[in-house]
Amino acid sequence: MNREDFPMLKKEIVYFDNGATTLKPDAVKNAIIDYYENYSANAHRGDYKISMIVDEKYEKTRSKIKEFINAKEDSEIVFTSGTTDSINLIVNSYFRQHLKKDDEVLITYSEHASNILPWFVLQQEIGIKVNYIKLDESYEVTLDNVKKAITNNTKVISLAHITNVVGDVRPIKQIAKLAHENNILLVVDAAQSIAHTKVDVTDMDIDFLAFSAHKIYGPTGIGVMYAKFSLLDKMKPRNYGGGMNAIFTKDGYIELREVPTRFEAGTPNIEGVIGLSAAIDYVNNIGIDKINKYEQDLKKYLLEELSKLDFIEVYNKNAKGSSVAFNIKNIFAQDTAVYLDKYNICIRAGNHCAKILNEAIRVNNTCRIVISFYNTKEEIDLLINVLKNSKNIWNEIL
Ligand code: ALA
Repeated sequence: MNREDFPMLKKEIVYFDNGATTLKPDAVKNAIIDYYENYSANAHRGDYKISMIVDEKYEKTRSKIKEFINAKEDSEIVFTSGTTDSINLIVNSYFRQHLKKDDEVLITYSEHASNILPWFVLQQEIGIKVNYIKLDESYEVTLDNVKKAITNNTKVISLAHITNVVGDVRPIKQIAKLAHENNILLVVDAAQSIAHTKVDVTDMDIDFLAFSAHKIYGPTGIGVMYAKFSLLDKMKPRNYGGGMNAIFTKDGYIELREVPTRFEAGTPNIEGVIGLSAAIDYVNNIGIDKINKYEQDLKKYLLEELSKLDFIEVYNKNAKGSSVAFNIKNIFAQDTAVYLDKYNICIRAGNHCAKILNEAIRVNNTCRIVISFYNTKEEIDLLINVLKNSKNIWNEIL
């Protein structure tokens, strides 16, 4: 679908590494070039026409993101540098001030490092406890296991909506209901879901959400943190400086600007915001439901074809996301990736920053394909053919 919009797809490559980053359509590149060529000024600082165009586009993007994730207010959208930055902001600017020793945070073994390490640091520095929700036999989160993990000390549940290796889709709406019945806040890492399925923070009743533009066809270095206004209003800015203060005086008095401006100190990533805006328009024009249906059909085809190869082990056959984690039996994942690269097939291999997932799936490294709407059956047929010839893998990669 829409392959002609992606200059990278005009090269002789098969790109399956969409979990790491997606390719960018011309519309995103052109929007960024247009900014630099036609109205390249700073945001929120100038009283001249081109500066006002920047302000308008910047704030319209906030509004567009609000619509895209169905938040209630534009002010609930904060621009960050990406998912990692957003989760660190949530943890350090809200939870560091609101958690105390022995309060518990629930995560799982399949979270990405960015949804584990910031909590570990709070564990080390203020004595909270990081506990794990047990995964079922398909490495998925069940409501029952969330219930079992909750104690009187649980204050936060922090989960990926869709995980980056297993690709399981968590029942976020039901988890949010359970969390709120127990006075627990829910943080959702939407890095791997935002480009593949509808994320509706109001319907799902999510308290905090994080995602990156580059995983939804936008530029790198820009992302979003969403928080319900009542929570955002209690967050402490992490950066102080230009743009985020209303006034300050020589004796050290600082009055902050309103939410969310107080969280965006310094000149923002304007080209990033403009590129993200174009990416959201692009995805909206296709339609997220259409994308989801296409990707699911293609993933089903990939799984069917892989299941015909008895030397391939697939680890996440039941997962409902767009990713397939597999290995050629007895071959190190990175060797498979190097072999596939000889045929210009790009996949990711390794632990994918989910470094404690091996506690559950008992394998350290996997090959990962994440399907995008621009992938095709023909690309999958090519992959399968190359895999069929992998008996000579050592001759080819040594
Ligand atoms: N978090 C990205 C991935 O899973 C980089 O590949």
